[in-house]
Amino acid sequence: HLYSLASFPIGVAVAAGDSARSFLKIPQQEITIRQHFSQITAENIMKMRFLHPAENTYDFTDADQMVDWALTNGLSVHGHTFIWHHEYQVPDWMKSYNGDFQSMLNTHVATIADHFAGRVVSWDVVNEVLDETQSNCYRDTLFYQRLGRDYVSEAFNAAESADPGADLYYNDYSISGGNSAKFNCLLTMLDELQADGAPIDGVGLQMHIQIDWPTTDHLRSAFQAIVERGLKVKITELDVPVNNPYSSAPFPQHTEFTPEVAALQKARYKAIVQTYLEEVPPALRGGISVWGLWDGDSWILDFENWQGADDWPLLFSGPANGPYEEKPALEGVAEAL
Ligand code: XIL
Repeated sequence: HLYSLASFPIGVAVAAGDSARSFLKIPQQEITIRQHFSQITAENIMKMRFLHPAENTYDFTDADQMVDWALTNGLSVHGHTFIWHHEYQVPDWMKSYNGDFQSMLNTHVATIADHFAGRVVSWDVVNEVLDETQSNCYRDTLFYQRLGRDYVSEAFNAAESADPGADLYYNDYSISGGNSAKFNCLLTMLDELQADGAPIDGVGLQMHIQIDWPTTDHLRSAFQAIVERGLKVKITELDVPVNNPYSSAPFPQHTEFTPEVAALQKARYKAIVQTYLEEVPPALRGGISVWGLWDGDSWILDFENWQGADDWPLLFSGPANGPYEEKPALEGVAEAL
């Protein structure tokens, strides 16, 4: 039981709903998830396009089934995510919405938060708002174009009113310190949100990171800056691919998952968890979640930056229907906990 080594949630992202990859259709996945994890996040089915397919239509069937499974089996659920700008994530009707956009968006957030109140312990309220290449740090999205930056604090307020009990997170990638421009954008936004009195409880760091970047020192300083603001730190989407498409070295660097590579990955996972425990005091530990159960199911394999290369980013290896085998990376996490 990985989770029993920690006093905070140890989570995993799961495919659910009508996907053939749904963990509810693969008995060995249910078994491994129950054995090692205390929290799940929907990899896709709680995103806006899934839950809110038409202005006056919400579809909670798949998500309810997933949440019921979690609660029946003693796991908690982290909600992901009320607002995400990506063109494939925003429902089409919303893109052409002509009414009062802010009140529509507040209703969207409040309706979903209210539906899951008491059953979902925490939410990524907004995902990936920041873009450090913009002069004011805000990504040029549908939401920003219609509403300016206030939609972020509005979303936190709407979620808080609908479910005062849930922990509310801001979630993003490249905010674990290696990209200082984006990290400074994060700090500026957090300071603005806190000055505005927005009910933000923490920062979700996705941490789809490289095996050697950002460094442990980067992570350390990022965790510290969030902790200094009294905010929780949650690692929401951890994976450690062994290939690096952003490196100057020819890609892919590894076409096989050798014991040497596995050992490097183990050390990396271990250092991440150790750094988290060293820098984040118990009261501010929102938890650590990995983005998928086993290597063959990782989103990284479909991520365009990987150009079809293989990779092995997670804590378990396959076969597809299990039983799943614990990798050295899992030992690394366990040793650190
Ligand atoms: C990804 C899923 O893993 C894929 O299955 C889907 O096709 C696209 O979204 N950051 C996030 C997650 O916040 O929602 C993304 O999940 C991965 C990157």
